[in-house]
Amino acid sequence: MSFTFQDFPAARDDLRADVLAGLAARPKAIPPKYFYDEAGCRLFEAICAQPEYALCRTERTLMATRLPDIAAAVGEVECIVEPGAGDCAKVRQLVDALRPAQLTVIDIAGTPLAAAAQAVSLDYPDLAVCALAMDFLRDLEAAADWLPPGRRLVYYPGSSIGNFPPEAASALLARFRKLAGGDGQLLIGFDLKKDPQRLHAAYNDAAGVTAAFNLNLLSRLNRELGADLDPARFRHYAFYNPLKGRIEMHLVSLVEQDVRVAGERFHFALGETLHTEHSYKFRCDEFVSLAASAGWKLAGEWTHDGFAVQLYA
Ligand code: AVI
Repeated sequence: MSFTFQDFPAARDDLRADVLAGLAARPKAIPPKYFYDEAGCRLFEAICAQPEYALCRTERTLMATRLPDIAAAVGEVECIVEPGAGDCAKVRQLVDALRPAQLTVIDIAGTPLAAAAQAVSLDYPDLAVCALAMDFLRDLEAAADWLPPGRRLVYYPGSSIGNFPPEAASALLARFRKLAGGDGQLLIGFDLKKDPQRLHAAYNDAAGVTAAFNLNLLSRLNRELGADLDPARFRHYAFYNPLKGRIEMHLVSLVEQDVRVAGERFHFALGETLHTEHSYKFRCDEFVSLAASAGWKLAGEWTHDGFAVQLYA
């Protein structure tokens, strides 16, 4: 068994600077990566269990049922790399099927990542497991030093790519290409365009879990930046925009109000929005074009009930 943990303190996110810049911007916006404090991670897990939000369940079913085909298309790999691996639950299926020599998992939340990666290394004694605690959006390139030579597969499931606007998504896919190397591959999961009513319902679940997830951002700012945001003065507002092919998620101010965040004052007009997330939905051919803009060529495709997994080389 081999387990390595490497912390990259220089590649941490900067909540204070990002939030102050986002509140000064027009429209006001905060990057969605800040949803995921401890409470936010729990709420996201709860979202995945809501009947309206099928994304996670559908991807799991797709991977479980099509894994033999996917593994055959991928072939032999020396190393699987998963940016944003979280609890490392999804990658276990792939490790079972591909039996690589190394697994490198990357996540901003170092402590839970280390625990999850160590558990993987105990369960797979022949696998070298390497956990890198970093905001990969800041310094993905540094991760390359922790990858063995040999064929690499970058794994990016969960439609996380949908949370980036097209230009940023293309730039990220190009960085994945560099990380994968010349003979490397990318296995990526994304949510497909579908009935807008179904998409709308997925981000407006009846139990209000997505609303709580969105509003939790305000509680995080109150706790970590000494802000005085009152969640009762904001409304979770999410809708599908078919012109842009994305869910837009907002916190709309229900009153005119002044708030303090990290010692600075900000004004919200009545009805002004704090934009918190975009979640892009794709057709398979649209995603092929996006990936092509980053130098990837399609090598395999599997779909199930509104979700797709594509393999690129
Ligand atoms: C993580 N990401 C792919 C989720 C999504 O659907 O865009 C985050 C989420 N936001 C609201 N519900 C789920």
